[in-house]
Amino acid sequence: MARSASAAALHDALLRWYAVSARDLPWRRDDASPWAVLVSEVMLQQTPVARVEPVWREWMARWPSPAALAAAPAGEAVRAWGRLGYPRRALRLHQAAAAIVGRHQGEVPLDEADLRALPGVGTYTAAAVASFAHGQRATVVDTNVRRVLVRVVQGAACPAPSLSRAETDLATSLLPDDDGQAARWNVAVMELGALVCSARAPRCGDCPVAQLCAWRLAGHPAYDGPARRTQKWHGTDRQVRGALLAVLRESDRPVGAKALAAAWPDDGRQRARCLDGLVADGLVEPLAGGRFRLPT
Ligand code: ADE
Repeated sequence: MARSASAAALHDALLRWYAVSARDLPWRRDDASPWAVLVSEVMLQQTPVARVEPVWREWMARWPSPAALAAAPAGEAVRAWGRLGYPRRALRLHQAAAAIVGRHQGEVPLDEADLRALPGVGTYTAAAVASFAHGQRATVVDTNVRRVLVRVVQGAACPAPSLSRAETDLATSLLPDDDGQAARWNVAVMELGALVCSARAPRCGDCPVAQLCAWRLAGHPAYDGPARRTQKWHGTDRQVRGALLAVLRESDRPVGAKALAAAWPDDGRQRARCLDGLVADGLVEPLAGGRFRLPT
């Protein structure tokens, strides 16, 4: 497929569309450093662009390099993470900064295997940094890319719940040969998934590859795979952990049980379990006298 006329037509249509329709996001600018790209990719995991952008700007102003972040206390990274959610990402990014200083002289590595060896950096993030920061021909597959490729190439409404080897191979086979074009193709597919080929309300009338799309040509068949997990929030431990952590973030001194109880007034069992979890994860430090603070 990659070298066929239809792959060339896909590349051409999508890259043209991207050139005029892409959002002007600060981590996509030519002057964005590899560190800026790494921070953006970690923040963007399961988190929308609109929530990430202000936090990313503050973070980059304060810690413009891995060395700057590595020199700050871990708790400050957790505080600056704000309400982005999944706050272990802040700790991992702090640990990644230390590893970049320790192993790579403070420079975000180029090699995907070196990137994957950093705390909090998985297959997707390593490929995204190799491609977007270093301009390499890496296979970048996130949920948006999976949805676009399964629709356009395979004619299905949605990908299966988990990523298969066949999907990664398909994405690799579609990469343009040229490094720079491959990097642009990756972000263009992702952007099409975010702006046009969305999960719930695809705008096929505005799609630059509608004429080539197997899903549209097949009459938009509905998804018929296994049930997909939906993320609950209200009343979950994740919500309680968020409420407890917010109290600690907003206080510049250790916090006692009363303030934490006010943040989540239940019979105390879920609160205690969540607080224990935060301590076990290293997001909260217990002190003598039943007080707590962010890690130092
Ligand atoms: N641009 C580059 N990477 C991105 C991502 N993960 N989400 C949205 N836009 C991006």
